[in-house]
Formats: sequence, structure tokens, C-alpha cells
Amino acid sequence: MKPVTLALPSGDVGLDFGDCPLDLDATLPGSGPWEVEIGFGKGRYLLRRALEDSGTRFLGIEIALKYQRILTRRARRRGVGNLATLRGEALLVLASVLPRHFARTVHVYFPDPWPKARHNRRRLFDPESVDLVLDLVAPGGKLCFATDFLEYGALVEELLRSFPGLDVQRIDGVWPDGARTNYEAKYIEEGREILRLEAFPRAERAAFHPRGREGVLVGYSTELEGEPEGVPTTVGS
Ligand SMILES: C[S@@+](CC[C@H](N)C(=O)[O-])C[C@H]1O[C@@H](n2cnc3c(N)ncnc32)[C@H](O)[C@@H]1O
Repeated sequence: MKPVTLALPSGDVGLDFGDCPLDLDATLPGSGPWEVEIGFGKGRYLLRRALEDSGTRFLGIEIALKYQRILTRRARRRGVGNLATLRGEALLVLASVLPRHFARTVHVYFPDPWPKARHNRRRLFDPESVDLVLDLVAPGGKLCFATDFLEYGALVEELLRSFPGLDVQRIDGVWPDGARTNYEAKYIEEGREILRLEAFPRAERAAFHPRGREGVLVGYSTELEGEPEGVPTTVGS
């Protein structure tokens, strides 16, 4: 597995999982709130926000090294000091690298929809993984989501609306600050329909989605009991 790399304004750092969860305040000192974007692509949104809002700290997660390099190069060239990126697989990063409940806003724009049934499990929004995304959101914070893949968008909306302790709203029209990412700008120009959502966890949010809970716990108990990979373990029996 490729290592997870943290790119800071001052340089790149290879992560040692022994140091996780990451001490974010030590990576980008300051007291400003955090915003996270998962799958930032060329990083148009993060770069703009980091330049506009120096009092907020931004963290991007992206699997493609070339995109991490593009954003890092642009940010360093412009002297941006409030942006860090992690190159790594998002679910791995969420499960193993980041602390919980630290982000004022989590942004996910045009994530890969993985439409083939055999690939569904790679989705960021799935009953067994949605808790990892929502776990980033601090009390009083929110998740922003957009997709042009309306079938997947409908599933994500249903998944979020059925997550106990989460309030979900559709955004009518474009975001108040306009097109946020490269994909969004391109799709607006092409006249594609886009589904935009915001979700707000309440104080008494559930830890797991009811449909994913058992699968997540099977994973945990398999790990804890040291069962060989792939051997199913039932919970509560
Ligand atoms: C369709 S692009 C959207 C890029 C950007 N959000 C935008 O709206 O312009 C999806 C992005 O997610 C990244 N990505 C896909 N799977 C990922 C994963 N498992 N972990 C982290 N990033 C991922 C891809 O490399 C790509 O940059």
C-alpha cells in the first residue's frame, strides 16, 4: 500500500501510523476552525477558500498524487499558510489517520459514483462507510455534497435522511458562492443537472447508520478477535 503523505506549507512528511490520529493543531498551528475537502481534484475550491479566509485552516484528502502535487505547488507559490493535504485513500485516512469531530465543514463534490454493483463498496457514501465521513464533522458543523450522477445522489440523500440525528437539506440552484470546483463549473456550463445537499448532525447523532452498523461491527470484531481475513464473524450471537 502506498504511504499516506502529508503536504504542509513547509514541506512534505511521510506519515507513520504510530503517530495517528494526527495532531492537527501541530501540523498547521493556529486557532482557526478546520474545513476538509475529500477528493479535491485540482484543488480549485480549497485554494480559493484558503486564500480568501486566512482565519480558517483547510485540509484536503486526495488519492491521486498528481493532484496533491498540483495543489501543493500552487499553494506554496502563493504563500498559502493555512492549507495542508493528505495523499491517501479517503476511507483509510478517515478510519486511521484523522481525529474525530474536528471539522466545521466537510466538503465532498462529485465523488466517484462507482456505478457497477461489484464496485459499490468503494463508495464514500455507503451504509458501512458514511459514519466515517460524518465523524469528521464537529458539533454544530455541516457536510456539503454535490453530484451530477443523480442516481447516486438520490441514494446519498436517502442514506443521509435515514441517518439518525442528521438534518438534511437540498440546495436549490447553485451554492451562494457560485460553482465551487472544476467539475461543478464544467457541468454547469454543459447544463447538467446537479444535486446539492447540506447535512447537519445534531448533538445526539447516531454513531453508525442502522443499515451499516452490523457490517461495521463485524469488521471491528473480526479485527479484535484476530480472525483470518474474510472469515465472517456474527455479532451478538
Ligand atoms: C470526479 S473527481 C472530482 C474532483 C473535484 N472534487 C471536483 O469536483 O472538481 C473525484 C476526485 O476524487 C478523487 N478520489 C477518488 N477516489 C478517492 C478515494 N478513495 N480517496 C480519495 N480521493 C479519491 C479522485 O482522484 C478525483 O480527484
